Amino acid sequence: MAAQASQPARWSDRFEEGLHPAIERFNASIGFDITLLQQDLDASIAHARMLGRCGVISVAEADQLIAALETVRTEAAEGHFRPGLEDEDVHFAVEHRLIALIGPLGKKLHTGRSRNDQVGTDLRLWLRQAIDGLDAGLRRFQQALLDQADSHLHTLIPGYTHLQRAQPLSLAHHLLAYVEMAERDRQRLADVRGRVNISPLGAAALAGTPVPIDRRLTANDLGFEAIYANSLDAVSDRDFAVEFSAAASLILVHLSRLSEEVILWASEEFGFVRLTDRCATGSSLMPQKKNPDVPELVRGKAGRVFGHLMGLLTMIKGLPLAYNKDFQEDKEALFDVVRTTADCLEAMAILLEEGIRFRPERLEQAVAADFSNATDVADYLVARGVPFREAYQLVGGLVKTCLSEGLLLKDLPLERWRELHPAFEADIHAAIEPRQVVAARRSEGGTGFERVAEQLQRCRERLGPQPEPQAPAP
Ligand code: ARG
Repeated sequence: MAAQASQPARWSDRFEEGLHPAIERFNASIGFDITLLQQDLDASIAHARMLGRCGVISVAEADQLIAALETVRTEAAEGHFRPGLEDEDVHFAVEHRLIALIGPLGKKLHTGRSRNDQVGTDLRLWLRQAIDGLDAGLRRFQQALLDQADSHLHTLIPGYTHLQRAQPLSLAHHLLAYVEMAERDRQRLADVRGRVNISPLGAAALAGTPVPIDRRLTANDLGFEAIYANSLDAVSDRDFAVEFSAAASLILVHLSRLSEEVILWASEEFGFVRLTDRCATGSSLMPQKKNPDVPELVRGKAGRVFGHLMGLLTMIKGLPLAYNKDFQEDKEALFDVVRTTADCLEAMAILLEEGIRFRPERLEQAVAADFSNATDVADYLVARGVPFREAYQLVGGLVKTCLSEGLLLKDLPLERWRELHPAFEADIHAAIEPRQVVAARRSEGGTGFERVAEQLQRCRERLGPQPEPQAPAP
């Protein structure tokens, strides 16, 4: 049976029978690659314009193609462009509509290109825009951290190693650590963007084309920084998808670590933050509960993004050059990585903006009631000429005694200190006071208040003013 007249022809006359309906469904990507419609139109317009400029078609023909492609865009905006399974993918869907709109001229658009370079072009254009959106999301997250840090420069929080109380910190210092992580995330995205922003268009199926095209014209028109040097590499390369997913995975690692901290902080046991009603949910059974669903979801969603990274690596690793249909699987992965990362960044920014309130009184109590100033006792002796290791041993013994007597270091009277070592003076009590302990850590990058104030200032300058919110991408 020949291809039915009602269905748009996709294949050449070589085919005699239509696809099995289940295989048609299995093969089609239109259900998800319609996401690339705007990019497909942009790339087709650039291609048509180039064909006109290179004399492959007349300029008048190019103008007609461009106008018809813009008509498809308008139809889509008005909800009248509804491709079906028989269109297979977004590239065929646009071409079919074009031919329906303007007849035989529409059949000239695909001159000198293939869906292989076309899909690669669309995907790169889409991802480039998505990366810019994620950068804006990271900036908002950084701003939210900076605003909290601003209010909590002088709030103390216990610092942990091995989740055991270690040394007290300025809360701002703790928050600024996440600003630095987000800064590296932004750098990584910018770096990946450079390799996303290279045009494969004109590589055609795999080998280039005898049609006298100009790849640099389409690349310039579409804002690409360069063109792929090798046509095989151009249509076979999905490194950018992997690199991007790896960069997104690290964003999720960072968001997930902060989520874990917020979840701990919001527990009765820590009590360092209160969840506001804006971002917390209740239990259907236990009326007393307020649950940190937002950070829990972010922590959970990290797994999806890592999964896509692994999926992409695995999908690519066995593929011979050049294009293979396996690549069709890259789209849903990338779309989900972008959506999940953007959603998590937004949710965490909102959580910081209005979802949590730090409890300075509880934090203050926490740092006042532990041995996290023990190192400072040793440092006190070191400053008075005692070798560090000897001081360390002495203080260890002292902590042991205090624990057995149920005392804190600050409770010990001066005589007890002097019994331990004659270098102790009356100023020992002030020296181990948590605020003093924090203030004293003046080394570069340390938690001393002046240092943190400098860090905060540098972070603010680096971030600059927040841009005006942009209209969401179509
Ligand atoms: N839908 C395909 C994809 O997503 C487009 C490219 C198809 N190319 C081909 N030679 N079958 O990868």
